[in-house]
Amino acid sequence: MRPAIVYHSRQGHNKALAMSLSEEFQGRGIDAVMIRIVARTGTGMVKSLVRAILCRAARLEQQPDLQEYNPVIVCSPIWAGHLTPEFLGFVKGLRAVEGKQFYSLHCCFGDTAGALGRASELLQQKGVEVLGTGYITTSDLLERAKLPVFVKGVVDVCIDRSDQVT
Ligand SMILES: Cc1cc2nc3c(=O)[nH]c(=O)nc-3n(C[C@H](O)[C@H](O)[C@H](O)COP(=O)(O)O)c2cc1C
Repeated sequence: MRPAIVYHSRQGHNKALAMSLSEEFQGRGIDAVMIRIVARTGTGMVKSLVRAILCRAARLEQQPDLQEYNPVIVCSPIWAGHLTPEFLGFVKGLRAVEGKQFYSLHCCFGDTAGALGRASELLQQKGVEVLGTGYITTSDLLERAKLPVFVKGVVDVCIDRSDQVT
């Protein structure tokens, strides 16, 4: 099956992470699809931050149809130690994903305050297998040498654990 890389990115770091993952898959002859998730109603940073702190899920412009894809890698920021409303909205809207494999990744400052565990918990509640969670700091992302190592590790896990990745 084809991997999907779902990303939420306001300032571009998580998009860059998603693109780098896509390139790593491509280098191994695997054509992953990239899917951007966007809230239906755009809000400013302060309002979005408050909603993240209150654990409010955003309504998305479109909930991705993941039927044809596996594994699914989700890239999103951490705000004030919380998952973003877009991430929460995406997970809330997941349907018929039991048995699929997910990886939750976050490009952030490195202060995750339990958000990774929360992401894993929310995904597991949807009946998916969580291959892993992880983060890369924005400075490591921008320091070119570290990003490929991080991305290679994630793609290695995806390929090793998903026997049907094509
Ligand atoms: C308002 C705000 C709060 C943030 N809070 C955290 C935080 O608690 N922990 C952390 O590690 N990073 C935090 N960050 C950093 C973002 O997660 C980081 O800049 C991320 O790469 C942004 O992703 P994007 O460029 O894809 O939008 C925060 C950033 C903003 C703007």
